[in-house]
Amino acid sequence: MTNSIEIKKKINKFNKKIRVSGDKSLSIRWVLFSSLANGESKAKNLLLSEDVLAAFNAIRKLGIKSKINTKECVIYGKGIDGYKYNNKLTLDAKNSGTLGRLILGLLINTPKLIKLIGDKSLSKRDFKRIADPLNKFGAKIKLNKQNNLPLTILGSQNLKPIRYIENRGSAQCKSSVIFAGMRTNGTTIIKAKKSRNHTELLSKHLSLPIKIKSKKNYDLIKIQKVKKIHNLNYDIPSDISSAAFFIVLTALSKNSKLTITNVNINPTRTGIITILKKMGVKINIKNKRVYKGEIIANIQVISSNNIKAINCPPSLNSGAIDEFLIIFLVAAKAKGISYFKNLEELNQKESPRLAWGAKILNKMGIKTIVKKNSIKIYGNPNLKINKKIIIKDFLKDHRVFMSSVIAALTFGGSWTIHDKDSIKTSFPRFLNIINKIKKND
Ligand code: S3P
Repeated sequence: MTNSIEIKKKINKFNKKIRVSGDKSLSIRWVLFSSLANGESKAKNLLLSEDVLAAFNAIRKLGIKSKINTKECVIYGKGIDGYKYNNKLTLDAKNSGTLGRLILGLLINTPKLIKLIGDKSLSKRDFKRIADPLNKFGAKIKLNKQNNLPLTILGSQNLKPIRYIENRGSAQCKSSVIFAGMRTNGTTIIKAKKSRNHTELLSKHLSLPIKIKSKKNYDLIKIQKVKKIHNLNYDIPSDISSAAFFIVLTALSKNSKLTITNVNINPTRTGIITILKKMGVKINIKNKRVYKGEIIANIQVISSNNIKAINCPPSLNSGAIDEFLIIFLVAAKAKGISYFKNLEELNQKESPRLAWGAKILNKMGIKTIVKKNSIKIYGNPNLKINKKIIIKDFLKDHRVFMSSVIAALTFGGSWTIHDKDSIKTSFPRFLNIINKIKKND
């Protein structure tokens, strides 16, 4: 079976209502919190992708039982000290930076040596950013020479709370330190540049000893040792990062309209909506409601004829960090030159995404100027692609694959996109939903 996809035709106009899969960040956090809770935790609409299955596997190796089912998943927590495992355990975070980094926080007190490994892409990513603060608590994390995986962690029973400044806008670093703080006597204090705040919201929902002061550009978080976590039943809302592909599909198609239901529009995640609205894309938020601290809504998108270039304010970067590849496609169709800066974190993802963003655009015939942490995109509202485009060797980055599919369906040309299996990481239903939209009622 071939693992590539051919697209030779733009999508026809559509008017549809869809629901995308559960939020990846929330799904992984639900698994991790529930693994330390007392008793049965249940989740509906959990994302059953490889990243989340890797989280289930990890907690299973730590002695926590679970049931995985498309209707409802169950985790049988044994309390905050309930992990049981043998010495020299190996945990595999596969492709997931979130799992790899967050679980290290929970293992800060491990009395037995644990090895953490990952796939080829994760093994290229920086773990020093997390080893440094966790070692300050008193753990011993040893990285390989390039500051990444495989690593080993040996925890301490004598942890000391730390003061930590998180200045990348990384929710993974912030969350890992919050988890470590939950295991440590005293008060851990974090000054964190704004980033997605699901860990904090779940901690509050669970009445854990966390305090958050929200300032303009950063949050001040204080966390104390957690004695008990109540079981956590959760109906996972849909992932805005998955919805993003369909938002852009609609924005760049002619005479089309799409409603995406039940999406988590947590303000720390809606950078894409703010950016696209500034560029003139018509997006309406409907039926807004609050669920366990998160904000859920339906997103309605209407095709846009007049897309404007943007000089994107860096304050929006963190809230759109997983969406830039797809945002760059909108900039390709815009009138004028768009500028995105302070994006050094983009090259720290599953693939170097700033480089890949430019590569896709260049193949399409769009001029870019890429510097270490910025990109200028010379938009062309009249772009017509008549040539062959091949996308391959992108470290199986799921978002490179999905963005390329959207480019092919909206700009035309004859595309061959490799590594279709990459969607299993975050959004196994991606191509099914594309086909559902393609089908005329
Ligand atoms: C995530 C945080 C972000 C994001 C990733 C998921 C999380 O990473 O890119 O897909 O769930 O905390 P960083 O914290 O490295 O920015």
